[in-house]
Amino acid sequence: MTRDRGLIELRDVSCSYPLLDGERRTALREVSLEVREGEVLVVLGAGGAGKTTLACVLAGVTAPEAGTVRRGPALSGQGDSSLPVGLVTQNPEDTFTSPVVREEMGLILQNLEWADGEIDRAVDAMLAEVGLGGHAEVSPTLLSGGQKQILALASTLIADPALLVLDEPLSLLDRRGREEVSTLLSRRSERAGRAEVYLSSEVGDALRGDRTIVLARGSVAWEGPSAELPLSEDALAEWGLLTPDLSLLAGLLFPPPAPEGRALWRADELARRL
Ligand SMILES: Nc1ncnc2c1ncn2[C@@H]1O[C@H](COP(=O)(O)OP(=O)(O)OP(=O)(O)O)[C@@H](O)[C@H]1O
Ligand SMILES: [Mg+2]
Repeated sequence: MTRDRGLIELRDVSCSYPLLDGERRTALREVSLEVREGEVLVVLGAGGAGKTTLACVLAGVTAPEAGTVRRGPALSGQGDSSLPVGLVTQNPEDTFTSPVVREEMGLILQNLEWADGEIDRAVDAMLAEVGLGGHAEVSPTLLSGGQKQILALASTLIADPALLVLDEPLSLLDRRGREEVSTLLSRRSERAGRAEVYLSSEVGDALRGDRTIVLARGSVAWEGPSAELPLSEDALAEWGLLTPDLSLLAGLLFPPPAPEGRALWRADELARRL
């Protein structure tokens, strides 16, 4: 698998929103980052850190006020700057436009001008895969919160975008829903070359990707291999983030100075260590 080719690159990107009093609120401040083919990049940030704004810039929905965004072949100085990006928003309900689930699921393929028969086949397969077959003919608004999030994700995955941007994709889900979405995502990540940006406020989600960026008050506060994310109280407090439950538990089981007490843990690793 190639991991070296850049898919998208942001250089010194800044964004702000107008306020009623004529001032502007800065949401992103000189953010630079690159997403490479085949990688999962996790972006952690507290509420208001700028995650949704960054997701919209990556997906091309929001143009930056300052800085540059380079996409696709243009990054290596050749070809156009198109890049198929799928964005799953924090509130999927806001993005549904079709009267029934089946149509919503095939919307992107329709925009890509696939033949009707091909769309039907792809939609049927995806409906069955995500367990929404029995809801194909109902309005997306009648689905549960978790089913809406699964529909939003599935109707994005169906077009197999080169870059998938997920803005807190598990926030509305119960445990079963989280497992279903995680399974869908891991199936995609087995495909060579597909990249993902996973935005979250849960520090434990760093382990979903090889690389993590911490966004704090609109700026990149830390960037590095996920396993090296600092979990000191000072660092997390500065970023407005909370220690993951498993790390708290490990801290009680192996009190400092044992360094692993402040590490990121997967549940199965912690169980093995005990
Ligand atoms: N439409 C808007 N008008 C004014 N300010 C906005 C608007 N949207 C976002 N902001 C401000 O921009 C900053 C970044 O917001 P953003 O939604 O990108 O953060 P976030 O990390 O996604 O937050 P959350 O975790 O709550 O979803 C915040 O200070 C927010 O108040
Ligand atoms: Mg947000």
